[in-house]
Amino acid sequence: MKKIAVLTSGGDAPGLNACIRAVVRAGHYYGFDVIGVKRGFKGLIEKDFIKLSPRDVGLIINRGGTILLSAREERFHDYQYRKIAAENIRKEGIDALFVIGGNGSFQGANLLVKEFDIPVIGIPKTIDNDTYGTDYTIGFDTAVNNAVDAIDKIRDTTMSHERVFVVEVMGRDSGFIALAAGIATGADITLIPEYPFPMHVIVDTVVNSLNRGKRFSIIVVAEGVASAKEIAEILKEKLKPYDFGGVRYAVLGHIQRGGSPTAFDREIASRFGVFAVEEYLNGKKNIMVAYEKGEIVSKPLEISFGKIKAPDLKDFEINNILTL
Ligand code: F6P
Repeated sequence: MKKIAVLTSGGDAPGLNACIRAVVRAGHYYGFDVIGVKRGFKGLIEKDFIKLSPRDVGLIINRGGTILLSAREERFHDYQYRKIAAENIRKEGIDALFVIGGNGSFQGANLLVKEFDIPVIGIPKTIDNDTYGTDYTIGFDTAVNNAVDAIDKIRDTTMSHERVFVVEVMGRDSGFIALAAGIATGADITLIPEYPFPMHVIVDTVVNSLNRGKRFSIIVVAEGVASAKEIAEILKEKLKPYDFGGVRYAVLGHIQRGGSPTAFDREIASRFGVFAVEEYLNGKKNIMVAYEKGEIVSKPLEISFGKIKAPDLKDFEINNILTL
């Protein structure tokens, strides 16, 4: 009987469990044995493997985090540890490795393909949605909804005190969460790393909106731009001459990554998982699953790294239009 293995690697994202469940159940459905690898590439090096039956993945579709645990394994940059990982895969009789990860994890897994001829199937996840080659990555929708939920609450207090509030959302190198949350909450300014603009524009925008009768402002900033604290401190100084109830800031942080996945994330994670197993069954390998124009497709694994997926400038304009 053929054997496949599944792991989750890099930052966790809501929907990982739904995807693990899908790979495990589709695997068994099509007659494979399924192994779970604990803590991503760390578990490959340390041979931390568990057998997963369809029952082992019951009651997890609605749970955040990952039952397989996750890690960012520095040792995997080192050939000698990748060799150990490959030997462990062979010793266990694993025929293909399913990696639920982002660009970094795909890049690591691709070394197993190139150096040791281990078949790999990548399934994209990251709350940042910044994996090149796919329109969607598992976890993004939940992260945006978590941010929107928090900003809606912040708006109540901001409005009541007629303040300026700077809210920092996740996105180390990418503004997808900020942009989506900004549009969905009607933020007055959204700052993303891909389209930077100077501080004086931010100040002018807040002042202009006050002049148009807006008594409070919400600024959403992706962490990759600057910290909310820094921006709030500058604004405090610059806005002194104006009649606002003060400036405050909040950092939403890892709250965005936790909690029960949305219906969309559960559904797409399930579809990605089943599709990945079926593609392998049809003889494909060294591919990543991708979402493109509403369809699930597969692409060469290598397509995802070395390139930057930037948000659409049009989304940025929508934000500007709607702050009138
Ligand atoms: O890549 C996902 C992400 O949540 C980024 O938005 C964030 O910058 C980073 O991970 C945080 O990583 P860690 O959990 O290691 O602090």
